[in-house]
Parts: sequence; C-alpha cells; structure tokens
Amino acid sequence: MTLPSSQFPDLRDRGVLVTGGGSGIGAALVEAFARQRAQVAFVDIAEEPSRKLCDRVAEATGRMPHFILADLRNIEAVRAAAEAAVAKLGSIHVLVNNAARDDRQPLEAVTEESWDESLSVNLRHFFFMSQAIAPNMQRAGGGSIINFSSIAFLLNMPEIPAYATAKAGIIGLTKSLAGKLGPDNIRVNTILPGMIVTERQKRLWLDDEAIARMQERQCLKRMLVADDLVGPCLYLASDCSAAMTAQTMIIDGGVF
Ligand SMILES: NC(=O)c1ccc[n+]([C@@H]2O[C@H](COP(=O)([O-])OP(=O)(O)OC[C@H]3O[C@@H](n4cnc5c(N)ncnc54)[C@H](O)[C@@H]3O)[C@@H](O)[C@H]2O)c1
Repeated sequence: MTLPSSQFPDLRDRGVLVTGGGSGIGAALVEAFARQRAQVAFVDIAEEPSRKLCDRVAEATGRMPHFILADLRNIEAVRAAAEAAVAKLGSIHVLVNNAARDDRQPLEAVTEESWDESLSVNLRHFFFMSQAIAPNMQRAGGGSIINFSSIAFLLNMPEIPAYATAKAGIIGLTKSLAGKLGPDNIRVNTILPGMIVTERQKRLWLDDEAIARMQERQCLKRMLVADDLVGPCLYLASDCSAAMTAQTMIIDGGVF
C-alpha cells in the first residue's frame, strides 16, 4: 500500500532534529521532513546506515540531511549533538525524540546495570535533549517536541520491564515539559506506535506468526510500516496542530 504524501508548507526551511534517524521510523521521518523542504539534522550511533541514508535522501529529495554521530546514552554527547545541530541549522523548530532500543529481558535477568542501561537508551536522553534544545526554541518564539513512546507498555508484555517503564515515563515527561514550555509556545506531544514492521523488528523479534497475531488484534488488517508514522509526525510538527500539546496519539491500527 502506498501512503499519500501531504504537504505542510509551514515546515519549509524549518530546522528539524531527529534522534535515532539512521534507520527504522527515524529514517522515514528524516526523508519525510526533507521532502517538506525542511532543514533536517539527525543523531545516530550507527554510522554506516546513517551515511547511506544521507546519500539516499539527498538523491531522492535534493536535500542532504546533516548527520551527527553520537551515543545518546552519554549526556555530554547529547549536549554536544544539540550544539552541533544548532550550529548547523541555526534554529531548531522541531525536535523528534525517537532513538530507543527495545531489548527483551525477563524479570530474573535484570541487573542494576541492565536497568540503568535500558533507561539511558530509552528515556534519559529524551529529557536531556529537550533541555538542551528548549532555549533555542524559546529564543525563536516556539517549537514542537515530539516524543516516541510505545503501546508496548500497555500490553502487559512480560519480557520488557525496563523498556515498558521508560515508555510509560515518556508520557509523564511529555506532560511536565508541556506544562513548563507551553508559555513559550513550545508544544510537547507523544506518539505511541503499535507494531511497526521495520528491518530491526523483523531481524530480531517478528516472524510471520507474530505479525499475524498482532494483525488479529488490530481493527485494520494490514501490516503497519515506518511510513505510517510520517503523517502523524508531520501534523504534530506543523502549525496545523498549533493548539495541541501535552497529548498522546496512538498509531496502532486500532489495537487500543
Ligand atoms: N518498531 C516498532 O514496532 C515500534 C513500536 C512502538 C514504538 N516504537 C518506538 O519508535 C521509535 C523508533 O523505533 P524503530 O523501530 O524505528 O527503532 P530502530 O531500532 O529501527 O531505530 C532506532 C534508531 O536509534 C538508533 N540508536 C539506538 N541507540 C542509540 C544511541 N545510544 N545513540 C544514538 N542512536 C541510537 C539506532 O541506531 C537506530 O538507527 C523508538 O522510540 C521505539 O521505541 C517502535
């Protein structure tokens, strides 16, 4: 199925920063913002796919995204990446906090180290990147922060206690940041994707049976892909959603 592409003219030339933009949903968003003629920077830990993505997007859209290599588990690296994005783009109007890693770990196997590791890759940088970018948005008179949570934390999935905690925490963070930054015209919203069949998901967790089981629970009986997040994310980035903040948007084909 080919998804329609909408135009949001207010995004043209706006600065957009996507974390974890090198593959999966983040890569679809990098390409989509480039197609809107926005100025896009993205942060990722994986250099090779990120460089390939830059070439592919530049060829497809005529706009070369700016890739920043960084490990978002390191807060100094988060701050340096924010600075590099501001130095390149001038002003950041849209921040998409997307990078995450949904490692499975049963209750008995969780250690202090693995718990901290999960929260550092799945939650901590969402706050520190927002904190680093907010002053730039405040100076520019507004902005939109879009956080990626997941329906996974609503599904009582037994093997992801730390990931589920992080994804639930993102909603609390969204509410608090929206309250703090609303007076500066900075909106903060969260998207909860359902089962999105990406390369990594197929490689690690999803076989045909798992995909069929989830489709059984969905109202819409088709496989959801990274491009399904593009429209909702562009809408939250654009002034089309100017009165919408502190909200969560579930994109799961109707599981919930
Ligand atoms: N795919 C799904 O089914 C699904 C479902 C619900 C929620 N989500 C959420 O959507 C977002 C994107 O998921 P995805 O499936 O595209 O993931 P993905 O694994 O395909 O992509 C994540 C990207 O983040 C990068 N990344 C990981 N750790 C990093 C680090 N320490 N520093 C910098 N970059 C790092 C990876 O290199 C990768 O490019 C995540 O927040 C995820 O939790 C995904």
